Amino acid sequence: MTRRRLLQEAVAGGLLVAGANAAQAFPDKAEPQTLREVLNIFHLDKAARRNLSLEAYHFIVGAADDGHTKQENRLAFERVKIRPRRLVDVSGLNTSVRLFGKDFSSPIIIAPVGDQQAVHIEGELATARAAAHKQHLMIAAMLSNYNLAEITAQGAPTWLQLYPSQNREFMLKLLRDGEQAGCDAVVVTIDGPVRGNHEAAHWFAKHRDATAPSRRVRLGNFENFDGRKGIGNVAFTWNDIDWLRAQTTMRVVLKGVVTAEDAKLCRKHGVDGVIVSNHGGRQEGNGRATLDVLPEIAAELGRRMPLLMDGGIRRGSDIFKALASGADAVCIGRPYLWGLGAFGQAGVSKCLRILQRELERAMQHAGTPKLADISARHIWRPPA
Ligand code: FNR
Repeated sequence: MTRRRLLQEAVAGGLLVAGANAAQAFPDKAEPQTLREVLNIFHLDKAARRNLSLEAYHFIVGAADDGHTKQENRLAFERVKIRPRRLVDVSGLNTSVRLFGKDFSSPIIIAPVGDQQAVHIEGELATARAAAHKQHLMIAAMLSNYNLAEITAQGAPTWLQLYPSQNREFMLKLLRDGEQAGCDAVVVTIDGPVRGNHEAAHWFAKHRDATAPSRRVRLGNFENFDGRKGIGNVAFTWNDIDWLRAQTTMRVVLKGVVTAEDAKLCRKHGVDGVIVSNHGGRQEGNGRATLDVLPEIAAELGRRMPLLMDGGIRRGSDIFKALASGADAVCIGRPYLWGLGAFGQAGVSKCLRILQRELERAMQHAGTPKLADISARHIWRPPA
């Protein structure tokens, strides 16, 4: 049989579809080669895996210990189902949300991630430009490669994320940076008294090719400060939150709350907002899913302050479930990192567009044209 004939038969038999191989015939198994082919966040994951070194890919997907917290975040979204209401006029779709007196057209927020040059040379600048396009809120990480002024210059509304440091002078310097850059809020990440156990990162560090040129990691926010710049403080407590609140004009948001008890303390200590987060499973390996944690925190906080959540969001329907569980808005981490690692700024834009469209579709199917229409009655949770 000639090669030409063999090919013709393969195409006729469905083995080859439009020049692609057999796996490409099934969108869920396909590996998109181009941005245009990308249909969902899982495609962005696959495209990033193709494009990045194993070490860079594991920077994105790595998690603490055996990855159980990260896995739980996803499983919780699969357990919860949507209860759609019929015959509702969903023509006037509106996904806008108000946070600290400012309106955002989407409840999808860029979660803080440091060292984004690990996956793309333009790092946080590419992410910020993509966020700026539709004015998504971006939470810029303290450990960004670019400094806060460089990031905010891209035009996205920005909050600054801080890790506790033993050196209060360093924290004060970062608070001044945030105020000068016009950030409405500082997000203090409180889930890392010590770093999570990332075995993949240790593995790659031990197996790095010693002869290959190493990447110089810049930490832009550390540059114009001469004192000690320690990150992490095992003695940091609620008293330090009181101190920090008194030092800044920005709203103080705590990221990493996962119990009603700590939500209560947020109220007691005058915190302005809460992000329910387990760091995408990168700190503790035995945590509950953030979607499962949300209702008890929402019940504790009432509607007194903005309540955000993150962890495991990969679909617009996941965002819907989080909003129905009490969140006002959601943050995404790995989804946009996959976009960044695969296609740079265009990949981040595509990620935001996909999730926004999916959210809009989920809202229309559920009969909830506005975010405020989404309630606990629109989801079903398996009995505890
Ligand atoms: C993070 N996250 C994070 N959080 C933070 O407060 N400061 C930081 O510097 C980082 N850095 C970071 C790096 C990488 C590679 C990842 C994946 C995550 C956590 C992040 O803000 C967010 O909580 C999670 O990513 C949300 O979970 P998903 O969306 O990744 O499942």
